[in-house]
Amino acid sequence: MPATIISGKEVSAEIRLELKGRADALKARGVTPGLGVVLVGEDPASVSYVTAKAKGSAEIGIFEETIRMPGTSTEEEILVTVDRLNRDPKFNGILVQLPLPKWVSSDKVINFISPEKDVDGFHPINVGKLLRGEPCPLPCTPYGVVQLLVRAGHSPEGKHVVICGRSNIVGKPLAALLMQKKKGANATVTVCHTGTKDLPYFTRQADILVAAMGAPKAITADMIREGCVVIDVGVNRVEDPSCPKGYRLVGDCDFEGMKEKAAAITPVPGGVGPMTVTMLLMNTVEAAERAAGLGS
Ligand SMILES: NC(=O)c1ccc[n+]([C@@H]2O[C@H](COP(=O)([O-])OP(=O)(O)OC[C@H]3O[C@@H](n4cnc5c(N)ncnc54)[C@H](OP(=O)(O)O)[C@@H]3O)[C@@H](O)[C@H]2O)c1
Repeated sequence: MPATIISGKEVSAEIRLELKGRADALKARGVTPGLGVVLVGEDPASVSYVTAKAKGSAEIGIFEETIRMPGTSTEEEILVTVDRLNRDPKFNGILVQLPLPKWVSSDKVINFISPEKDVDGFHPINVGKLLRGEPCPLPCTPYGVVQLLVRAGHSPEGKHVVICGRSNIVGKPLAALLMQKKKGANATVTVCHTGTKDLPYFTRQADILVAAMGAPKAITADMIREGCVVIDVGVNRVEDPSCPKGYRLVGDCDFEGMKEKAAAITPVPGGVGPMTVTMLLMNTVEAAERAAGLGS
């Protein structure tokens, strides 16, 4: 039977509708959720990510302000901006768009964001809380993966989830999220990487396979078992002269080969991608709820 396609666009739209309701409820109490975005320079990819975040915020009623700083900004100048946002109560969330200029330490800037306002979930305090199972802003892409699974009817509870990739922004935090003794988690987790000997041996054991490697079509149909649920986080550009831009986007999984074997699969684009911005909006609304004394 052909795999069900798990649409990140549809799940994302459903979550944004819920978020609008939560933002409206906050406004009724006199609180408008606020997001401050720091954009340094004019890298086209960064500008397009920031534009998507501003558009998403407007859609659900979050007050959003993008602070545009020149590409020549010093670390000190960026820290001063973050400090201003940390102190300003109209911002519940702060996001510094990465990458930063090469003379600026991203770690230093991220660590300077107030943990309560760290809506990317990258601050070491939040990473520690995540591992301990304490309430905190969850890193957006892993949070989006879990929401996709749960809302598409493939809760990871009791399942063997094999994650390919151990980065600090996807693989590691996803493993930490899924191993928690909580609803929507409670999975048995295996994390694979380039040091894994015989990757197919592990991927074939997966009830749920998450690919986050940045390696185009590295996971093929013969590497999964019949009925596996496949979440493809990878976004890779491959040359394609037949496309107007000269390239197209593919995931880390061979979608065409897998779609008759998997029970469900996310497409690229249109799978995990749309969820990442939506979860940032979710973290902002949740931070506003916490600041207003509501929620966890
Ligand atoms: N859709 C979204 O919103 C979103 C968000 C974030 C990332 N992404 C995409 O997801 C992918 C991963 O991103 P990332 O930031 O996590 O990448 P990353 O920092 O480059 O990490 C890649 C991970 O995959 C492992 N890996 C790479 N090739 C492998 C192979 N052939 N076999 C086994 N493991 C392999 C690496 O192992 P080692 O640790 O041993 O090097 C590393 O742990 C990229 O395509 C990125 O564009 C998408």
